Amino acid sequence: MTPAITDEIFKQFRDFIYEKCGIFIPDNKRYFLENRLGRRIQEKDLKGYQDYLYTLKYDSDKNELSKLFDLITTNETFFFREPQHFDVFKGELLPRIISENTQAGRRDIKVWSAACSTGEEPYTIAMLFLDKHENGLYRKEIYASDLSESVLGSARAGVYGSYAVRNVPEEYLRKHFTNTDQQYKLSPTVKSMVKYMKINLMEDRDARALRGVDVIFCRNVLIYFDDKAKQKAVSQLYDALRPNGYLFIGTSESLHNITRAFRPVVINKVIVYQKV
Ligand SMILES: C[S@@+](CC[C@H](N)C(=O)[O-])C[C@H]1O[C@@H](n2cnc3c(N)ncnc32)[C@H](O)[C@@H]1O
Repeated sequence: MTPAITDEIFKQFRDFIYEKCGIFIPDNKRYFLENRLGRRIQEKDLKGYQDYLYTLKYDSDKNELSKLFDLITTNETFFFREPQHFDVFKGELLPRIISENTQAGRRDIKVWSAACSTGEEPYTIAMLFLDKHENGLYRKEIYASDLSESVLGSARAGVYGSYAVRNVPEEYLRKHFTNTDQQYKLSPTVKSMVKYMKINLMEDRDARALRGVDVIFCRNVLIYFDDKAKQKAVSQLYDALRPNGYLFIGTSESLHNITRAFRPVVINKVIVYQKV
């Protein structure tokens, strides 16, 4: 068994994790960290926490950092989560964006699901796009990203359990999934609409690939960051959006005291942040 983590090493791990991905591990999550890291230390047959930290810091093998991200991130998500956002997106924002983009001579719509976890969020958007037949001439681009390689692997596979699909309307379940043995396999059509990328919201160079985005969904990830890390992530989102583009964050999240670069707009009782 790995011996208990000392105060000093816990703090060093906390600082290292914060610096690499913005996630702040509070004191009351110490046991969680100890548990997750302990398992990995045993798997790798290392001497203890200090040895593991040394490996992460100085080993040239960057896969271990990726493994650490897999261990410490919370990946809870499901289709049609916070459905009011999708109602506003489909019913209100899409018509506005199409009209604005048409005036600007554009024939495309770009959406980015930042911190997409196992893909339920971007695939929900893809299914909504398939509904909007009248926008058929528009090119729809959906980008989805996360820091964790393992969730991106699951997202690409597109196979879900019944819990993940519990909010999917019956008609969509029939149309876009095949159901065998409690597994729901997403159709190749929906899968092919989403482009996955590995983006760490704390890394300037990662998010640079995305520019001119019309709508960003970055929901239920800012809660894991402190104010400084939130500011960093939000500035990446700002740079990726086109002027007047829209940002959705989770309903329990806020940009209050984080930035003035977005104007909160209330549409059907839902707060959407618009780039100013
Ligand atoms: C709780 S999930 C949210 C999934 C989805 N957006 C939703 O609302 O259902 C949070 C995700 O944020 C990702 N994440 C955490 N820190 C990140 C970072 N620095 N850059 C990118 N993604 C990050 C985690 O890997 C995890 O998959």
